[in-house]
Amino acid sequence: MMTVEECIKTRRSTRKYLARPVEDDKLERVIEAGRCAPSGGNNQSAHLLVIKNRDVLKELAVQVKHEFEQMEVTEGLYASLASAIRASKGEKYVFHYDAPVLIVVANKRNYGNSMADSACVLENMMLMANGLNLGSCWINQLRWLSENEALLKTLGALGLKEDERVCGALALGYPDTVDGLPDRVALPRKGNPVTVIA
Ligand SMILES: Cc1cc2nc3c(=O)[nH]c(=O)nc-3n(C[C@H](O)[C@H](O)[C@H](O)COP(=O)(O)O)c2cc1C
Repeated sequence: MMTVEECIKTRRSTRKYLARPVEDDKLERVIEAGRCAPSGGNNQSAHLLVIKNRDVLKELAVQVKHEFEQMEVTEGLYASLASAIRASKGEKYVFHYDAPVLIVVANKRNYGNSMADSACVLENMMLMANGLNLGSCWINQLRWLSENEALLKTLGALGLKEDERVCGALALGYPDTVDGLPDRVALPRKGNPVTVIA
């Protein structure tokens, strides 16, 4: 396996997946990496809904498309949300890029660290995925729809508890690339400024 530094520096988002299923042992390792994430006060209240069922993934994609289709792009709307709304009005919109696995990360609705804790879970899983030559991508649509009644009902039937809300999700699978490996070319770092006080 690669070093931690290498793994961090070569992690990239994958948006094209093969239908090939992820082996159970690899999936377990990704999930376990998420569960090992730190949490405020050691709360460990993130709830991972691991969706591998193709029919469920398909139905979820149809439902998310439907909900976004009802929405309009308004001025000043967060750019990624606006492009999701625009894309949903096209024929082929599949928010999870047809990845064979979608791991929805939810957390307690009224817990102040729910996003921070869930982000740690998601990053741990992305890094483990990279280390295992799997592709992954943070998926935010279910977060944007976290108070949507129809989605709450669907996710409730899948195990989301009443006091939980979606913080993010992870698409996971084998990348559809020429060599079958994730794209690992790092993006230039222009932002995230650093101020050192010596
Ligand atoms: C909070 C957050 C939300 C994101 N939401 C999405 C998303 O909904 N769909 C998507 O394709 N990528 C999403 N991404 C991935 C970013 O677009 C990506 O990390 C960024 O463009 C940098 O590219 P890289 O991951 O390949 O380094 C998200 C990333 C983060 C951290």
